[in-house]
Amino acid sequence: MPERKKVTLPSLFRKVTDNVPITMLTCYDFPTAYFQEQAGIDMILVGDSLGMTMLGYESTLPVTMEDMIRHTQAVRRGSPNSWLIGDMPYMSYQPSVETAIRNAGRFMAEASCDAIKLEGGTEMADRMAGIVRSGIPAMGHLGLTPQSVSALGGFRLQGKGAQQARKIIEDAKSLEEAGAFAILLEMVPDRLCQLITERAKTCFIISLGSGLHAHGQLLIYHDAFGLYPRFKPRMAKVFANAGQVIQDGLMEYVKEVTERTFPQPENWFGMPDEEYEELLTLLG
Ligand code: KIV
Repeated sequence: MPERKKVTLPSLFRKVTDNVPITMLTCYDFPTAYFQEQAGIDMILVGDSLGMTMLGYESTLPVTMEDMIRHTQAVRRGSPNSWLIGDMPYMSYQPSVETAIRNAGRFMAEASCDAIKLEGGTEMADRMAGIVRSGIPAMGHLGLTPQSVSALGGFRLQGKGAQQARKIIEDAKSLEEAGAFAILLEMVPDRLCQLITERAKTCFIISLGSGLHAHGQLLIYHDAFGLYPRFKPRMAKVFANAGQVIQDGLMEYVKEVTERTFPQPENWFGMPDEEYEELLTLLG
């Protein structure tokens, strides 16, 4: 496959201008990053969802900067040309603007990221502005923000009522004014997503379970490929059931080893007769 050009902020905004949807997926490891690179995914998010999808936690809250940096480095090695976004984990930016800038800087310096993402609206706009002023592109995240799942009352639709929807519109405006290059809208009604997309002037909007009227789409990789055994959210379509393929393969492996039909001669290595004879002599 011919190597593709590096995705850049200008090339992403060109897609927006040309009305071509931006493709985005989460990714957490080298081989998956390699496949996504080959598929030409525009933006890769190393989400703190890795706490659930890769590490088996019940939420994203236990994820550390060290977890994030290690996985992001692996993804960068597999996908040199996508626009790579490091997701700021819980308490890596909430305490202060300075904490936020330091940890955003780690993603750029240690994992060769192109940008970072953080959750929250108006109340996080000063963190967003500080990071952007430091020369680091930053993406916002509104609607269902998993780091605040307890305060939000669970993994549920956000902005269904008019008052809450207006607050999300105001939050989007604050993030745009703070310099966000993009905003992710997770699980808000499609009409709210459309209103925010139409109002966006200097940033673009990515939808996760928020309908078609955004500038691009994001899915959690494990949801889209049947790799998360605990549940499948409604917003995710399973594009290929890799989880089932792997499960079937594992059962076949167990069966063949148990029945001694694996391995076969093509799966092992022989030794020349004369070397074997000499070995037996040496052993007495
Ligand atoms: O961590 C993550 O993957 C995310 C998505 C839910 C957008 O933030």
